[in-house]
Amino acid sequence: MNGKICLVTGANAGIGKETCMALASKGAEVVMSARNFEQAEEVRKFVISQTGNSNIHLMIADLSDPQEVATLSDKFQAKFQKLDVLINNAAIFLTDYIETPEGIETQWMVNYLAPYLLTRRLMNCLMAAPEARIINVSSNAHLRGSINFADLNRASNYQGFKAYAQSKLGNILFTKSLSVRLAGTAISSYAVHPGVVSTGIGNKYSHGWLAWLWRLGKPFMISPARGAATIVYLAAAPQIQDLSGLYFVNCRPHTSSPQSTDPEIAKRLWEVSESMIQPYLE
Ligand SMILES: NC(=O)c1ccc[n+]([C@@H]2O[C@H](COP(=O)([O-])OP(=O)(O)OC[C@H]3O[C@@H](n4cnc5c(N)ncnc54)[C@H](OP(=O)(O)O)[C@@H]3O)[C@@H](O)[C@H]2O)c1
Repeated sequence: MNGKICLVTGANAGIGKETCMALASKGAEVVMSARNFEQAEEVRKFVISQTGNSNIHLMIADLSDPQEVATLSDKFQAKFQKLDVLINNAAIFLTDYIETPEGIETQWMVNYLAPYLLTRRLMNCLMAAPEARIINVSSNAHLRGSINFADLNRASNYQGFKAYAQSKLGNILFTKSLSVRLAGTAISSYAVHPGVVSTGIGNKYSHGWLAWLWRLGKPFMISPARGAATIVYLAAAPQIQDLSGLYFVNCRPHTSSPQSTDPEIAKRLWEVSESMIQPYLE
């Protein structure tokens, strides 16, 4: 991937960290995005020392704040002329209902709206690449999801897993919308389920029986490096543009839920998302 510039969110841990390692090993210039400077800087140094690739950068942003998402895109555009691969990987799983200062439920903001906003703000850089790819890390959890247009925060009778599943369904609908809207351009979009991967996502910021089950199941899950494999495949594989808009599992296109392929839901979600973060789009 010599000459390619890749931006990876959630790059300090889990699947994101391993994605950066693999892309760096393949010669890409990698821009890591994370919210915790100390931890992410350690990872940046580790990636450089392990791969011998010194073209590894770090940009700090808390993706629960749309202003920070906007600033991240501004910083990226100030430093780089083009973006070959955007990997929207960062996500959080919460069992408690937590709103951002803008009144948006945190999983919906970090997992869904931040990728929407970042991608749209980086469109000029993606357009400037000879052939660009947008990879949205979703999950099979989307199968349990629905888009609650009447209450996107899912504030009434909040259930953390349902909010997570909605955000991951949103990732696939966004991927489909991008592929339709970007048809005829050199930009393609893909959604990914990385597998059930031994990372901290299931118990870092959550509690209760789901966090307990996650901790118990960890030894039986695949490694973060294996979890990164499909993402890295989509970033590096030659000539996959005709597969734009599809959902990938184990490096192959895979069926996703009926809701995730409904063009009406995708269109409505695009429009609602746009109105939710309109002030940050310009
Ligand atoms: N693990 C699985 O089995 C699995 C299955 C299906 C899909 N996925 C998806 O895979 C992706 C990576 O997850 P993972 O398993 O690698 O989990 P992880 O180890 O918890 O990594 C999540 C990353 O997102 C970052 N993040 C969370 N909130 C953020 C915020 N407000 N601003 C900036 N960054 C934030 C985390 O940063 P901090 O370290 O600072 O919190 C971390 O770097 C996610 O999209 C997840 O939904 C995972």
